[in-house]
Amino acid sequence: MATDKSKAKIPLITCNGIALNAPNKTLFENVSLGLNTGDRIGFIGHNGCGKSTFLGILAGTIKPNEGTIAAARVANVSCVEQTLPERLLRLSLHEAVLDALPEDKRGWMDWKVEVMLADTGFDQNQASIRCEDLSGGQITRLMLARALMNEPNLLLLDEPSNHLDLPTLLWLEEFLANWEGTFLVVSHDAAMLDRITNKTWVLRDRQIHSFDLACTSALAAYENLEEAKRARRAAEEKEIRRVEASAKRIAVWGRVYDNEDLSRKAKSMEKQVDRMRDTQTKAVEAYPWNLSISSETLEADRLLVIKDLRVSPVAVEDVTLYEINEAIIAPGDRIALLGANGLGKSSLLKCCWARRKEEFGPVVFHPRCRLAFYDQSLNMLPDHMNLTDAMIATGEILGVHLTQTHCERALITAGFQYNQMVQKVSCLSGGERSRLLLLSLSQGSSHLMLLDEPTNHLDIYGRAELARQLRQFNGGFILVSHDRHFIEETCSRFFTVTKQGLVEVTNAQAAYDLIEASQPKFAPVERAKHTEVRKPDETTPVAEQLSDDQGLERLIELEDLLETDLKRKEKRQSPHLQMKWRQEIDILKSLLGV
Ligand SMILES: Nc1ncnc2c1ncn2[C@@H]1O[C@H](COP(=O)(O)OP(=O)(O)OP(=O)(O)O)[C@@H](O)[C@H]1O
Ligand SMILES: [Mg+2]
Repeated sequence: MATDKSKAKIPLITCNGIALNAPNKTLFENVSLGLNTGDRIGFIGHNGCGKSTFLGILAGTIKPNEGTIAAARVANVSCVEQTLPERLLRLSLHEAVLDALPEDKRGWMDWKVEVMLADTGFDQNQASIRCEDLSGGQITRLMLARALMNEPNLLLLDEPSNHLDLPTLLWLEEFLANWEGTFLVVSHDAAMLDRITNKTWVLRDRQIHSFDLACTSALAAYENLEEAKRARRAAEEKEIRRVEASAKRIAVWGRVYDNEDLSRKAKSMEKQVDRMRDTQTKAVEAYPWNLSISSETLEADRLLVIKDLRVSPVAVEDVTLYEINEAIIAPGDRIALLGANGLGKSSLLKCCWARRKEEFGPVVFHPRCRLAFYDQSLNMLPDHMNLTDAMIATGEILGVHLTQTHCERALITAGFQYNQMVQKVSCLSGGERSRLLLLSLSQGSSHLMLLDEPTNHLDIYGRAELARQLRQFNGGFILVSHDRHFIEETCSRFFTVTKQGLVEVTNAQAAYDLIEASQPKFAPVERAKHTEVRKPDETTPVAEQLSDDQGLERLIELEDLLETDLKRKEKRQSPHLQMKWRQEIDILKSLLGV
């Protein structure tokens, strides 16, 4: 676990009595807690309980129904986006990072973009790549660079590791472990949280419980609290029953012996029972979700044959990512499709799905094979529809006709609430959306499933349940995942995507070794304290326009920048910037006559 590098703790944000009602349920009741400098908080809780919403409250984008949020003047909060805004897709990496600054502050900030890109693991020659051509892992690093441009001292991150391959995940962990600011990170990845946090917030039953412990220990401590609560409640229940029984008996005696005193006593004991019930320790609400996937075995020797397939990104058919000579998938095959971000795993699944109806050609499914596809971007679910309509529409794509009543029943069984049926898909949390797609897919009892990172949004219990379901799955599946534990638990055949094509290896470890051997290494994270970034006056005028004093100040600033950069490891230096700085230094020196 990362060490606490803070000195004196200063409150950055303080919440008092926060309550919030979403349209269909209450998310928070009387939540009071704070974020201080030096806090490295993991924020956990099951799907749909309100973590992302609470981040919105902290960032000031969502207003609570009750309570106050006070941000200290020193607090400079930045949120790491979950998806890259669409308007940035056509910009270059450099432009997209610069875009994070307010328009009037972008002049003379190219140096800062370059420093930020280097800090987030990019090479200088990648700065001109268009954002739409970046891989999932690169986009996460770009979003981090954007968040850091305003030099925050408090970072809010919502499931930043969801789409990352292992090297990028390790890079992110190292980055956060070295970052000297405060952060709050929502994640369902306990192993990652254990490595980088010193505090945990557990959101359960509309309350946030704070522990000065990393995730696994905090969950254990939370369980102990709940266990103690259950025991207290059981003892209180026993006492309530005893008083209740006594009250009944005394009331009977009062009637039988026509004794007013006894009747009065019985009445007062009944009131005591009511008071005891009102103040009784609340029971922990049950985990709301249920996940089950139905399947069938197809009596056939092969479900899918891929032969001489050229795999391309869906939108750019003339680009070849790699070629597959032959791959045969039989019923019962549990295939892991592995490889680094951006190599073309999703492209292969999308290509198979797009050709699902072809009888001849490079991708041929068994004619009776019922196929299901879990698309990583969850685009198969129509955003504008309500839950039942979305299920029916997804069923149609899979060739399954579902009725409204059937869908409602299935949704309730899966854990959605009755009053959620009318909710639009676009308003679902990430995990709820993922659960809705899994539920829709499982209505078809498929023989083969193409699963593209299905665990990304699922909470800890959901992941475990999906693993159990896949182990029991009677059909076959091809699974893309970066979660080693999940892969090892569920798969029996292992394919690695390389630039040369698809390589089958005998076990998971051999696949990881192959991926690691073909992976370009990131520069190590050396300096993540972004407040260290030397910040020239944001409206720095050109050298000729400076007064002598300003010129000297600028000269000192430039020499500092140059010196700091030269102290970095060679790989992390910015020769391009050094050249610029040197040129400016020369001009200033000649102008100032020094
Ligand atoms: N506009 C809305 N209309 C209806 N319900 C909403 C709306 N916005 C959010 N919700 C509901 O509020 C709940 C909390 O959502 P939120 O995204 O905060 O959950 P989360 O804890 O981040 O979940 P996950 O782990 O799946 O990301 C969800 O049940 C969601 O469906
Ligand atoms: Mg969320």
